[in-house]
Amino acid sequence: MFVLGAIVALAACARAVTAIAHERVAHNRLASTPTCTPFNSTFPKGSVDFRQTSTGAPFIAISPNGSWDVGSNGLELFMSKPEGPVTTSDGVNSQLGNGATVNSTFTFLYGKVTYVVTGVNTPGIVTAAILIGDSHDELDIELLGGDPNNWQTNVFATNPADPAPLVGAFGDTQPYQAGDVKDTHNYTIDWNEERVIWSVDGQQVRTLGPNDTMKNGVTHYPASPVRLQMGVWDGSSPQGTCEWAKGPVEWTTAPSLMTAYINSVSVECPYTA
Ligand SMILES: *[C@@H]1O[C@H](CO)[C@@H](O)[C@H](O)[C@H]1NC(C)=O
Ligand SMILES: *[C@@H]1O[C@H](CO)[C@@H](O)[C@H](O)[C@H]1NC(C)=O
Ligand SMILES: *[C@@H]1O[C@H](CO)[C@@H](O)[C@H](O)[C@H]1NC(C)=O
Ligand SMILES: *[C@@H]1O[C@H](CO)[C@@H](O)[C@H](O)[C@H]1NC(C)=O
Ligand SMILES: *[C@@H]1O[C@H](CO)[C@@H](O)[C@H](O)[C@H]1NC(C)=O
Repeated sequence: MFVLGAIVALAACARAVTAIAHERVAHNRLASTPTCTPFNSTFPKGSVDFRQTSTGAPFIAISPNGSWDVGSNGLELFMSKPEGPVTTSDGVNSQLGNGATVNSTFTFLYGKVTYVVTGVNTPGIVTAAILIGDSHDELDIELLGGDPNNWQTNVFATNPADPAPLVGAFGDTQPYQAGDVKDTHNYTIDWNEERVIWSVDGQQVRTLGPNDTMKNGVTHYPASPVRLQMGVWDGSSPQGTCEWAKGPVEWTTAPSLMTAYINSVSVECPYTA
């Protein structure tokens, strides 16, 4: 605690108008933020609730029954072929496949999150393991089936100064050292008020600080409580999304049922209340 506090205070001083004012802010923040509880899960039976019920489970499905399950490999997120015919015109599909989304029922502000994920490698399909707040702050890990040798990182934090949403402004693409999106990897988002560091399989690949998120004269650094959110979705429409997702899905050759796995997730806390 002491070492972390000292580092935070030191880094803060470098940027502060006055060291004293800043120390008081840092201290208040540490003391008054009861916002991260250590958490681990391999998604045992009962860990995911159905939207209609409330059993105090750590996760809640926000996609329909049948779109997900839990098993020996953790959380299973299904992507299934749309009912009826799919036509493609102007590079987008007329219908999207049915995906799955699961939230954590708890939120936290700052923490080191490790998702172990086994993605889907069909072009157009996106496997996502993100942190998202009701404020729409977002820190992302996204695996594109259409770009299987790489994975993507991103943040969103809207600011009233923005004339329009900043889509993809802070996105980046990272290669795997070994394997691809359909293999099981450890992905880490290590987030505090000074920076976010993404790692894969224990190797740091990207660091982003508040200043790296400067646009329209303001920063766009996530700084409000988030929940875990895991999902698989079809990026075959609209056009901009489809280009990014390297879709559309070619359902005549794609499997009619695909599964992404969240094998486990953990949240480590930078400090306790
Ligand atoms: C989560 O798992 C890590 C690594 O196995 C362990 O060090 C940590 O104590 C666990 N935390 C909780 C809250 O179980
Ligand atoms: C989903 O499944 C659960 C558990 O079987 C059940 O309690 C719930 O009513 C189902 N919801 C719907 C909409 O079928
Ligand atoms: C899931 O997370 C999103 C993003 O924060 C939120 O808007 C939504 O209300 C959550 N839904 C449930 C059922 O927890
Ligand atoms: C993920 O990390 C854990 C703990 O460090 C390690 O045991 C495991 O082998 C790693 N898995 C992968 C796929 O890298
Ligand atoms: C961030 O940008 C501000 C304004 O340009 C500058 O004063 C400050 O030193 C920068 N901080 C870091 C850590 O680079």
